[in-house]
Amino acid sequence: MRYRASALGSDGVRVTMESGLTARDRVGVQDFVLLENFTSEAAFIENLRRRFRENLIYTYIGPVLVSVNPYRDLQIYSRQHMERYRGVSFYEVPPHLFAVADTVYRALRTERRDQAVMISGESGAGKTEATKRLLQFYAETCPAPKRGGAVRDRLLQSNPVLEAFGNAKTLRNDNSSRFGKYMDVQFDFKGAPVGGHILSYLLEKSRVVHQNHGERNFHIFYQLLEGGEEETLRRLGLERNPQSYLYLVKGQCAKVSSINDKSDWKVVRKALAVIDFTEDEVEDLLSIVASVLHLGNIHFAADEESNAQVTTENQLKYLTRLLSVEGSTLREALTHRKIIAKGEELLSPLNLEQAAYARDALAKAVYSRTFSWLVGKINRSLASKDVDSPSWRSTTVLGLLDIYGFEVFQHNSFEQFCINYCNEKLQQLFIELTLKSEQEEYEAEGIAWEPVPYFNNKVICDLVEEKFKGIISILDEECLRPGEATDLTFLEKLEDTVKHHPHFLTHKLADQRTRKSLGRGEFRLLHYAGEVTYSVTGFLDKNNDLLFRNLKETMCSSKNPIMSQCFDRSELSDKKRPETVATQFKMSLLQLVEILQSKEPAYVRCIKPNDAKQPGRPLPRSPGQGAAWGGAVCIPPPLVPRYKSLCPETWPSWAGRPQDGVAVLVRHLGYKPEEYKMGRTKIFIRFPKTLFATEDALELRRQSLATKIQAAWRGFHWRQKFLRAKRSAICIQSWWRGTLGRRKAAKRKWAAQTIRRLVRGFILRHTPRCPENAFFLDHVRTSFLLRLRRQLPRNVLDTSWPTPPPALREASELLRELCVKNMVWKYCRSISPEWKQQLQQKAVASEIFKGKKDNYPQSVPRLFISTRLGADEISPRVLQALGSEPIQYAVPVVKYDRKGYKPRARQLLLTPNAVVIVEDAKVKQRIDYANLTGISVSSLSDNLFVLHVHREDNRQKGDVVLQSDHVIETLTKTALSADRVNNININQGSITFAGGPGRDGTIDFTPGSELVITKAKNGHLAVVAPRFNSR
Ligand SMILES: Nc1ncnc2c1ncn2[C@@H]1O[C@H](COP(=O)(O)OP(=O)(O)O)[C@@H](O)[C@H]1O
Ligand SMILES: [Mg+2]
Repeated sequence: MRYRASALGSDGVRVTMESGLTARDRVGVQDFVLLENFTSEAAFIENLRRRFRENLIYTYIGPVLVSVNPYRDLQIYSRQHMERYRGVSFYEVPPHLFAVADTVYRALRTERRDQAVMISGESGAGKTEATKRLLQFYAETCPAPKRGGAVRDRLLQSNPVLEAFGNAKTLRNDNSSRFGKYMDVQFDFKGAPVGGHILSYLLEKSRVVHQNHGERNFHIFYQLLEGGEEETLRRLGLERNPQSYLYLVKGQCAKVSSINDKSDWKVVRKALAVIDFTEDEVEDLLSIVASVLHLGNIHFAADEESNAQVTTENQLKYLTRLLSVEGSTLREALTHRKIIAKGEELLSPLNLEQAAYARDALAKAVYSRTFSWLVGKINRSLASKDVDSPSWRSTTVLGLLDIYGFEVFQHNSFEQFCINYCNEKLQQLFIELTLKSEQEEYEAEGIAWEPVPYFNNKVICDLVEEKFKGIISILDEECLRPGEATDLTFLEKLEDTVKHHPHFLTHKLADQRTRKSLGRGEFRLLHYAGEVTYSVTGFLDKNNDLLFRNLKETMCSSKNPIMSQCFDRSELSDKKRPETVATQFKMSLLQLVEILQSKEPAYVRCIKPNDAKQPGRPLPRSPGQGAAWGGAVCIPPPLVPRYKSLCPETWPSWAGRPQDGVAVLVRHLGYKPEEYKMGRTKIFIRFPKTLFATEDALELRRQSLATKIQAAWRGFHWRQKFLRAKRSAICIQSWWRGTLGRRKAAKRKWAAQTIRRLVRGFILRHTPRCPENAFFLDHVRTSFLLRLRRQLPRNVLDTSWPTPPPALREASELLRELCVKNMVWKYCRSISPEWKQQLQQKAVASEIFKGKKDNYPQSVPRLFISTRLGADEISPRVLQALGSEPIQYAVPVVKYDRKGYKPRARQLLLTPNAVVIVEDAKVKQRIDYANLTGISVSSLSDNLFVLHVHREDNRQKGDVVLQSDHVIETLTKTALSADRVNNININQGSITFAGGPGRDGTIDFTPGSELVITKAKNGHLAVVAPRFNSR
């Protein structure tokens, strides 16, 4: 019983499992290990077919990649595809060649072990294509080496050149590799490609002179004829027509629609330059290619002694030029054979058949040796130039094996025998490595190992290569033995020696039924990939690979640099017989196996869907494919790290022993005992569905985990951001606080210093100015000035003024004066003319009455009015009497008679010239100002006043005693109008006045409580006036 790794989940999981299975129904499983019926070939093919229908050409068998040739570009090798497969686990992405490429590369880098990718499969299955894709993957995704990317280009460009010279169209494949290729790519410790090396195996050189029907010679011939410039062809003596060359027409298909020789030629020409070919070298190389074509057209005719003679002189001429050899030597060498007998050289002429044989042998030798030279040349170009650098010493190597695939044709010859033996050998290695590793794993895990029946082809390998008893040994023996050995005697020998071998059959050994399908000159091998019938014709010759001595000598004398490297003179003096072709091939294969065994292997198995080289056609069974799964092995992937998220106890990590972890996980997932087996370090699972269910559960779980991880990550991310912001804020805050603190400290220091200076200055304030008190004194001054500025008096009446410091007393006084002047000036500017007049009058009033008359203070706040009587209150007759004289002031007054002191209402008018006393409409008295000698009033609060007139003026009746309610105003205006300001007498006690000619009157004033005016008994007018202001 075989097991695979797996797990199972709850009911919720089953739903997705079903849908998952539907998809699987359609496209099959991506790993054959997951097939329920994994030993069944039918199930295998069905799975392959399902996937192929959906253009899924890749499928795994454990670590082995199976690839089906789609025969069309599926657009799956782009740069995006490469990126997708980089750095991801093998099982996490759909199967792909790039997944293998990346896994191998990572193993190479991390474990620093050499790796080898073995690509196998029958001819036309896609091996060469896969190799190219792998190279492309490494060239594009690996880091570039320090010294430019030239190595990458050379690695890539070596391909078209090798393919032009080593590939040909066969019935199986239009670009069939006719040589085996093993390519090492060296990587430095950084994983950059730094060099490469190619080993080539047994070029199928018989193709140079002969091709089966429907096949072609090597591409290069057709490419040169199709693409070569006129000039080149002329130089080489070639015609642009493959039909003209006998070596190109044997297969009768020089032109093939699927091959574009012209454009391929361009690619080759460019590639040659990349891999360091100089123009001269290209010319030499093309000369050789052309010489092979000319050789093919050399004809012979028999002379009378049946000896062959060259009849095509033209060809010979070109040949001697192209190969740079002596014409006569070449002619002789083509028609004679040199034999050394008893130390003597003998020339024996060749008959027609022998001459043709010699010619073909020369063509094959020239071409195949040139091919080997070409490989050498490419290797020199690929060799790492940095051999001495330290990185060189730590290089690791990745090997890519692209060998010719298993081949079956109608007629199979020595070449097919070698090719198929090679495939047999590699299959053997594959089985050994994979089965062994699986068996070892099962044993290491302590799982009962129940071997799957598979075909071990060791028995076939032995049949071919065993010493003495193997086919190669028998062939060599036949080649070497003296006497008449032929292909048929070889067949008889074979029949004798290996007749009981179950994988060997000949006409003679076959039973009645199978005998019909076998010719007499044929033997059949039952290869691992199917039966192949080989015709023995040519086996001996091809194995001997004989080139006559004089032909070798001729070529050794060639001046063509490539030829002189290919044919070395030491070869001539070497007496030892060279190893036969089959033995050489066997040895090189053994070496190859050793190389591969020393490396960590990876496998790609290519399969051909049909023999028609057509896309989309399904997969019929065809020989060679059995091997794809016959020997395949199922190696289960590891379980727990992948599925640990499905069980709470194992998530996120299991601290105990891994085995216990698996046990817990399996119990949680509900595996039944028959579904799995526990190994020492792995678990093995019986049914794929168990694994699918677990996979589906994992898919669901992953989604929820992804959400959680996202949330955690976002939380983390924002927290980091927040913490950063917080740190920055704190940083800014502390900086700012520091700045503030420093500022404050500086301020305090300054303050302390200032206070100290002030205190010291204060103490020394009375001493003369010195440095100690200068600051204080200045401060006092400035502060006084500043204070002064704020406390300046608001108006003229405001007399406040700050006290100045002693030093500023004088300045202060000056300032004060200035300030007052300024205020006065300002005030004066601001008053109106009326107000000015008012103030002037008031000033005059003040001059006259201030401190002298008792009711003066009451008059101060009352404004003087321009006139107390309107024009309508004065009689027009009076106005008429006054004529043109204007009335400046009019006020109602009371006149006291001079004798009886009777009060009578009168109007007092002031004109520019006189005081006029008016009674209603009549001017009672006119006192010209010239006649007004003075005015008397009492010092008390009464309103009486006397106008004194000139005594000599007879027109006048005498002084006038009047009373005005506005006595101050009336008197001020009168004094001003009459210019009698200095003539106002303010009397204490009494006033004497002239009451008429020679008669005087007196008015006595006494203070009292209220105003009383009466005629006293003494005939005086007695006035009692209330006292307002006590003096
Ligand atoms: N992966 C692939 N995608 C598309 N075409 C392919 C692929 N592999 C092979 N082919 C086609 O098949 C032909 C034969 O493939 P090739 O690699 O030469 O076979 P092999 O080397 O195994 O004999 C190629 O020329 C190409 O046309
Ligand atoms: Mg190939």
